[in-house]
Amino acid sequence: MTFEQMSRDLRPIGRDPRSGGYVRSPFAAAERECAAWYVEQATRRGLAVEQDGQGNAVAWWRPEGATGSGILVGSHLDSVDDGGAFDGPLGVVSSFAAIDALRDSGFSPQRPIGVAMFVAEEGSRFGLACLGSRLATGLTDPDDARELRGPDGVFLLDAMTAAGLEPRLGRSGLLDQVGLFVELHVEQGRDLVERDRAVAVASASWAHGRWKFDFTGEPNHAGATRMEDRRDPMLTYAMTVLAANKQARLVDARATFGRLTSRPNITNAIPSHVAAWLDARGADSGVLVELVETIIRQSFERAERDGTAVEVTAESVSPTVDFDVPLAHRLAAVLDDAPVIPTGAGHDAGILQLAGVPSAMLFVRNPTGVSHSPAEHAETADCLAGVDALTRVLRELAS
Ligand code: GLV
Ligand code: MN
Ligand code: MN
Repeated sequence: MTFEQMSRDLRPIGRDPRSGGYVRSPFAAAERECAAWYVEQATRRGLAVEQDGQGNAVAWWRPEGATGSGILVGSHLDSVDDGGAFDGPLGVVSSFAAIDALRDSGFSPQRPIGVAMFVAEEGSRFGLACLGSRLATGLTDPDDARELRGPDGVFLLDAMTAAGLEPRLGRSGLLDQVGLFVELHVEQGRDLVERDRAVAVASASWAHGRWKFDFTGEPNHAGATRMEDRRDPMLTYAMTVLAANKQARLVDARATFGRLTSRPNITNAIPSHVAAWLDARGADSGVLVELVETIIRQSFERAERDGTAVEVTAESVSPTVDFDVPLAHRLAAVLDDAPVIPTGAGHDAGILQLAGVPSAMLFVRNPTGVSHSPAEHAETADCLAGVDALTRVLRELAS
């Protein structure tokens, strides 16, 4: 089963024919189909699939003579809503293809090699990004995870049970044999296009987090309420969006409001309540904290003028992650002095690095630079260059 055949297998699963984007929401049908595909691919290759009680899995290649701690590759198979085909699956498919290439060349690793499938990486349904790897490493308390629900009100445990799992949340033995992790990923930016290179190694992942803003005001008639008499939470929300955009630009950081709900969400009334989620990111944790504090302060000031109220809840905050420096340099050297670049995105590799597992990432060129969108893309030739890079890296690390 070649890289192209595996990619073709996954292509129709969860695809929205109107937008061309993917909805592979954790524990819902399309994502479960991808998970079943992963088990099938592993089984077909004779890899030993180990699963934990929260949907994560590692498929181990342990030929005779492979001893000691394992080298983990792989990524995730869930997507954001209306996401691209590459974010996540490229890492899993490339990992199987790299194992095939090693075997075909007669290589026998001195260390076990595992292909990971981490669950719920995008935080698309339960709000907490990298949920699977956070639980498996113990970075997220299972009691906190039990409180998580999707926008449909379904609790995490109920979603898992409905998907046929017997949930056991929390640190599992799944990663106990892992000595290091290399996650291959589509690039989420155009750095490689500008450098005219197909593959890069990651240096660091920016600090990032999500904050829920609840704006409350006074619902009233859209025609009969004079502008000066209004207490309109949508106005406070709108001014907060502008403040976030301006403040992020001032400190070379990122701030995005990509999701909101409005009650009662009708055209001819001032809303009573607007909930909106801020995604903010910065090159270091200090910049991020200061940025978010400034946005919150300006939002409160605006609420006072508007006669509305704001409540802010931090849903997740991740510090800057510096990937393992010696490992990154070793990989860059193996890959003909590949560039070493930072990323503004979060990844399971960042979580494992935070949990003490030396981790690295490989990025594959994305001609549009677009991600979390149907336009996300990587040319097949670059994907195959990524497979080749991962194969060379595994040969280096497992010799
Ligand atoms: C996940 O891809 C994120 O960076 O939000
Ligand atoms: Mn990803
Ligand atoms: Mn993503």
